[in-house]
Amino acid sequence: PVPQDYSGLRVVVSAGPTREYLDPVRFISNPSSGKMGFAVAEAARDRGAAVTLVTGPVNLPDPAGMVVERIETALELRDAVLKAAADADVIVMTAAVADYRAAEAKTEKEAKTAGEVSVHLVPNPDILAELGRSKGRRVLVGFAMETHAGIERAAAKAARKNADFILLNYPTREGTAFGGDDNQVTLVRPDGSHDAWPRLSKREVGERLLSAALPLVSSDE
Ligand code: C5P
Repeated sequence: PVPQDYSGLRVVVSAGPTREYLDPVRFISNPSSGKMGFAVAEAARDRGAAVTLVTGPVNLPDPAGMVVERIETALELRDAVLKAAADADVIVMTAAVADYRAAEAKTEKEAKTAGEVSVHLVPNPDILAELGRSKGRRVLVGFAMETHAGIERAAAKAARKNADFILLNYPTREGTAFGGDDNQVTLVRPDGSHDAWPRLSKREVGERLLSAALPLVSSDE
């Protein structure tokens, strides 16, 4: 039997990519599979948490035993996460949120022309940073993918966004991160202290993440 150490706690997990539409049929996105976030959500559910999973478009069925909200854009993700986060104890942002969206999404399909075109992009809101600004007693966990100076950059990111810790991963390692079933991550705290974990299944990364977050949940309600 799985220990019910999350029983009575509310966990919100975001997963997958977002789609930023240029017109009704074209969008900017990324190859996030959603597997990492789904694994965290399923692990939390099995340990007794009440889970809300907010996910972008992925090829994974709704897991049983939790509230699942399907969204497409970063702005929709923001709305859904902020709503669910209001009474959450732990929030895990695994979603690969697109950094930019079109300043103006065309309502009709753009016709192809022979010449060059340009798209005006504006920054999306940083949802984790926004949660960090009104953190309260909630535990905030982020993910970060870096190609260089990972630990320094992840620590700076955790500090800037007021996250309790960030799980740092790398896009290049064989069998990990985007699409894979395994992940190799380093837990990085805002003060730069860190723990490198071995290559593990995404489920096991989720379990360890939850075990690291649990002692940070304040018991005084
Ligand atoms: O800044 P960067 O995108 O590397 O930060 C990654 C972390 O921040 C992830 O946890 C991601 O879900 C979150 N994030 C967010 N809103 C954004 C961009 C990233 O919540 N617009």
